[in-house]
Amino acid sequence: MLRIAVDGAFTLRSYRRDDKQRLVTFANNEKVARNLRDGFPHPYTDETADQWLDTAIQHLSDSVFVIAEDDLLIGGIGYHPQEDVYRFSAEIGYWLGEPYWGRDIVTRCVGKLVDWIFTNTELTRLYAGVFSNNLASICVLEKNGFRLEGRLRQAVVKQGVVLDELRHALLRDEWIARKSG
Ligand SMILES: CC(C)(COP(=O)(O)OP(=O)(O)OC[C@H]1O[C@@H](n2cnc3c(N)ncnc32)[C@H](O)[C@@H]1OP(=O)(O)O)[C@@H](O)C(=O)NCCC(=O)NCCS
Repeated sequence: MLRIAVDGAFTLRSYRRDDKQRLVTFANNEKVARNLRDGFPHPYTDETADQWLDTAIQHLSDSVFVIAEDDLLIGGIGYHPQEDVYRFSAEIGYWLGEPYWGRDIVTRCVGKLVDWIFTNTELTRLYAGVFSNNLASICVLEKNGFRLEGRLRQAVVKQGVVLDELRHALLRDEWIARKSG
């Protein structure tokens, strides 16, 4: 069980079987799903949760985490190392239960996840792909020093609507400069 302290009552930790009920409660929300890839479906059913927990617990316990308040799931966050010539890069992703939005929680969680990744892995580049209408997520990334690298025009079709995707990235060197500055 990996555990990363955030602050106060908040931690990032590996998934457990007993996260299922709260996972379905918070993930089964169209306002969450509309900003994520279709692999995070709506409706988000008991079966969806079972499949995700199988994968997360058996294969991804060092890279996908529950966002927890007092050890209870309120959202999810993780990183996905890339392969081949991209093997020093990883994509990050996150979501939070709607009742907890707007309290700076994910901004702080992304900051701690970035610190943990650059301290504990050899990755040199973290990036995120955000649908262009997701201003809150863009804000989270920019407050953590991620810089806009490009706009992938009409790259996304979500719920029948075509959207651009914005790519933001943070390099290890930039992270070091932020920490020492
Ligand atoms: C995006 C998401 C993770 C943000 O989590 P959060 O904990 O509410 O974010 P924070 O409170 O840390 O920061 C949000 C920032 O966006 C700003 N924001 C929120 N909605 C906004 C909007 N419509 N327009 C502009 N800024 C907005 C907030 O004011 C805040 O900035 P501030 O601290 O400078 O005021 C959360 O809304 C969520 O889970 N959304 C659905 C899933 C998702 O979008 N995941 C990311 C996919 S890339």
